[in-house]
Amino acid sequence: MNARPLRGADLATEDLSLRYRDGTQAFAGVSLRLRAGTIVALVGPSGCGKSSLLSVFNRTSDLVPGCRVSGRARLGELDLLARDLDLPALRRRVGVLFQRPAPFPLSIRANVALALREHGFDEIEGRCERALRQVGLWDEVAGRLDAPATSLSGGQQQRLCLARALALEPEVLLLDEPCSALDPYAAGVLEDLVASLRGRATVVLVTHELAQARRLADEVALFWVHGGAGRLVEQSETERFFAAPQRPLTAAYVAGRRPSAADVEASLPAP
Ligand SMILES: Nc1ncnc2c1ncn2[C@@H]1O[C@H](COP(=O)(O)OP(=O)(O)OP(=O)(O)O)[C@@H](O)[C@H]1O
Ligand SMILES: [Mg+2]
Repeated sequence: MNARPLRGADLATEDLSLRYRDGTQAFAGVSLRLRAGTIVALVGPSGCGKSSLLSVFNRTSDLVPGCRVSGRARLGELDLLARDLDLPALRRRVGVLFQRPAPFPLSIRANVALALREHGFDEIEGRCERALRQVGLWDEVAGRLDAPATSLSGGQQQRLCLARALALEPEVLLLDEPCSALDPYAAGVLEDLVASLRGRATVVLVTHELAQARRLADEVALFWVHGGAGRLVEQSETERFFAAPQRPLTAAYVAGRRPSAADVEASLPAP
């Protein structure tokens, strides 16, 4: 396989809904557009469907028995909801990083190499080194590549997981609260790495930290639970989202105020 630069792809949903088998409507009627190469932050209270939305983008929603997704979701021209979608190919294009570092119980080297081998890449050693350099880990681990990944610190493990994802040159990177288990220094290192991906991948960043969304994102989308389902309240360019929110609910959220019932009514259609 030829090396190619990281690039982004537009990610778009239209009237997208996801319901779990027990009837929980994680989100409903979500229409979003995430432009190629931008960083978009998804914010909103716990349970408003942020992680569930990410699971549609790499189709890990398929792994939840009885989970039903309806509406439309596209990555460029690709129909993400197509029944016959090539899932391994999709998951090469769409990388993911979770809240808690989740390295494979293998060596540092194998964590990156295995993903590369699985996806048919050549020049494994060279690609491993490049990915570890990209996340600033190479100098810290070059002398102990065969040590278990679990011997690394939490921040190092998270960077290793990012290296594993970046080694596959994904077009989209899904980050689900990637800094929340890290100390402020390690979180800062990871933030700088995320910022460096701008223009090279489409980054979807779920975060509870509004300051982080403001520092990193080109656009911010706020979700809220209304009528028993997560709803998209507003998607705006970052400065506008914080300085001139379009909806009363957003204004309350960015001000750290509990929105009133009137704020909610004025911001979201009646369920
Ligand atoms: N596997 C599942 N089965 C049933 N309900 C689920 C499942 N996973 C999530 N839910 C429910 O779907 C809703 C949305 O959950 P989700 O995890 O997407 O929210 P979130 O915005 O990521 O929350 P948080 O900020 O706490 O991570 C919640 O009501 C949650 O309880
Ligand atoms: Mg979540």
